[in-house]
Amino acid sequence: MSKPKPLRKAVLPVAGLGTRFLPATKAMPKEMLPVVDRPLIQYAIDEAREAGIEEFCLITGRGKDSLIDYFDIAYELEDTLRERNKIDCLKALEPSSIEAGSLIAVRQQEPLGLGHAIWCARSFIGDDPFAILLPDDIVQAASGKGCLKQLADAYNETGGSVVAVTEVPREQTNRYGILDTGKDDGRLVEVKGLVEKPKPEDAPSNLSIIGRYVLTPEVMPYLSKLEKGAGGEVQLTDAMAKTIGQVPFHGLRYEGTRYDCGNKLGFLEAQVAFALERPDLADGVKEFLKKYTDKI
Ligand code: G1P
Repeated sequence: MSKPKPLRKAVLPVAGLGTRFLPATKAMPKEMLPVVDRPLIQYAIDEAREAGIEEFCLITGRGKDSLIDYFDIAYELEDTLRERNKIDCLKALEPSSIEAGSLIAVRQQEPLGLGHAIWCARSFIGDDPFAILLPDDIVQAASGKGCLKQLADAYNETGGSVVAVTEVPREQTNRYGILDTGKDDGRLVEVKGLVEKPKPEDAPSNLSIIGRYVLTPEVMPYLSKLEKGAGGEVQLTDAMAKTIGQVPFHGLRYEGTRYDCGNKLGFLEAQVAFALERPDLADGVKEFLKKYTDKI
């Protein structure tokens, strides 16, 4: 196999309405909700940077402009912090700065599905491989290597498409894209087919896709057809399924813990898990957690 084209681009769909977090998301994008002190979007950008991504495309919607402001210079704020010599605060802002021209945003005018959102990035993607990060999912790295970096490494081994997968309880297959599996070495699994949100009794396995993908541009012509699938939406899973056989396609059992911050319990658990990793907070969090566990 010739060396796969380097992975440098990422698409981050952020057009969702955030209905599960109303009223908090009435006037603020759900991707700006913080886990500890950083918004969800920051976790996705950090993970992408670690994987070698240099160009970012946000697929936004109306009312989501604060996501773009977040990556701009906050001139007044930064100037005041400098004047007051608040070095720690200036340092805290650093991850939100981005090289000029390396982040673009495209509006998805109507919420027609994840497949449609990715299709909106077609000019950005061009003829290159690209990553997708769904910022609702945050993955706490187990071994110091983030989830997308693990996918990028696997992509360099196998070429083609690689998606992050994890086993879910069978009764939850109707929430995810599910793999029909081929050869499986316990880490990398060959993908023979993909089904979006099958009923447990119809699911070909319980191996589900989480919100991290490395795809090749071969998926784009299938997305362009804008065919509707599960839930009446244009499904990325359906277009990916059509590329099987045309490009190598693998699932990677990533190392790490995924938190589904698109639902309340996952979001709350992420707060605790990430706070416990922080030296400045861990002791305090353990202390108050004890108070609650004693009550249960
Ligand atoms: C999307 C995808 C699904 C995938 C999931 C991961 O679903 O369509 O295949 O398993 O993300 O979070 P959504 O969560 O947007 O319903």
